[in-house]
Amino acid sequence: MLKGKNIILGVTGSIAAYKAAYLIRGLVKRGAKVQVVITPAGKEFITPLTLSTLSGAPVISEFFSNRDGTWNSHVDLGLWADAMLIAPATAATIGKMANGIADNMLITTYLSCKAPVFVAPAMDLDMFAHPSTQQNLERLRGFGNRIIEPAEGELASHLTGKGRMEEPENIIRILEHFFKEKEDLQKKKIVITAGPTYEKIDPVRFIGNYSSGKMGFALAKVCAERGAEVILIAGPVAELISHPNITRVDVESADQMYEAAMATFPDANAAILCAAVADYKPIHPREEKIKREVSGELSLQLTPNKDIAASLGAIKKDNQFLVGFALETNNEEVHAIDKLKRKNLDFIVLNSLREKGAGFRYDTNKISVIDKDGAVSHYPLKTKQEVASDIVDKLATLLL
Ligand code: PMT
Repeated sequence: MLKGKNIILGVTGSIAAYKAAYLIRGLVKRGAKVQVVITPAGKEFITPLTLSTLSGAPVISEFFSNRDGTWNSHVDLGLWADAMLIAPATAATIGKMANGIADNMLITTYLSCKAPVFVAPAMDLDMFAHPSTQQNLERLRGFGNRIIEPAEGELASHLTGKGRMEEPENIIRILEHFFKEKEDLQKKKIVITAGPTYEKIDPVRFIGNYSSGKMGFALAKVCAERGAEVILIAGPVAELISHPNITRVDVESADQMYEAAMATFPDANAAILCAAVADYKPIHPREEKIKREVSGELSLQLTPNKDIAASLGAIKKDNQFLVGFALETNNEEVHAIDKLKRKNLDFIVLNSLREKGAGFRYDTNKISVIDKDGAVSHYPLKTKQEVASDIVDKLATLLL
């Protein structure tokens, strides 16, 4: 899986920097080309000579060579890489990555890198547990980076806890798994809807819902990492995503989401409809703010929005596939099966608000998948990233 892959290995100033030597050996042994980029602090822990001898290439550390003035192009490096692995990643480097503080060659390379980035933190348990580190890691996840969780064990401080960089052989296994998965959706185009829609009442108010976009964005990330070209049609959400395979189309209302979906679906291989689309919109949105009356009630007249899933279901060709979601609160399977049939879906993902940790805003979800023939598969509570992988695994079997 790693044969011929170009890997940038970022090494930072941690006692775990010695593990970079084992990483290089393992990667090179499997046929990967490794280019080491080391921070100034990294050089205090392991010598460039060791790393360049093992990788067979000069180690890059500075923006340019003092001797002859030649530049090290972080842009070229970023384009060359099939993956970037930062191992060990210190709290300082993680903080700089999360905030775009490009004061060394490693960070500029990271910011230029078009390839997926893997980050293996290494630090003391309290530093790892600190809210600032955790927030920075969460940010990096939001940018689409993959965090390789540190293990628990004895640390350089002689304390025991979570913060030990994952062992090199496990990191290599994660990279191998990633490249294996990556291939299966290449040359496929997948449209994904995510987040809520806002239906305008007046210039300051709207009808909306609690969808955060997390589930839809996780699906977009998984599809993109497996090689698909993704059109992510997103309602108003705070989620961030960045991947060369993802084109993000931001919309606000159900009408705008409908237009974007109808325009992009005809030459797509599949669509995953994860958005929580408002079923109704005000018939007459006001141009001016509705003023509070002294007494009496206010009535809003609503009209149904177009059903995006059903509209795509109506134009779907034999070689196209549609995956819908059903968000239910009661009689879950009955309602989901009805939506599956009515919208001409190939399978439907059911999540119920009765399940703890499932549905809106959580980082987790608990789903059942119902096939066209009525077969139901139940899944345990997992992270939305893992749930997205399960859904995409299922879709991939149809797209083969
Ligand atoms: O965004 P998160 O906070 O991570 O939450 C994720 C989620 C709960 C929003 C997601 O998992 C989910 O369940 N999405 C579908 C929500 C929904 O609107 O379900 P529904 O049962 O009302 O709709 C059924 C299907 O028809 C859905 O695929 C929906 O996208 C689609 N639909 C609905 C109405 C409409 N006008 N057009 C549509 O395409």
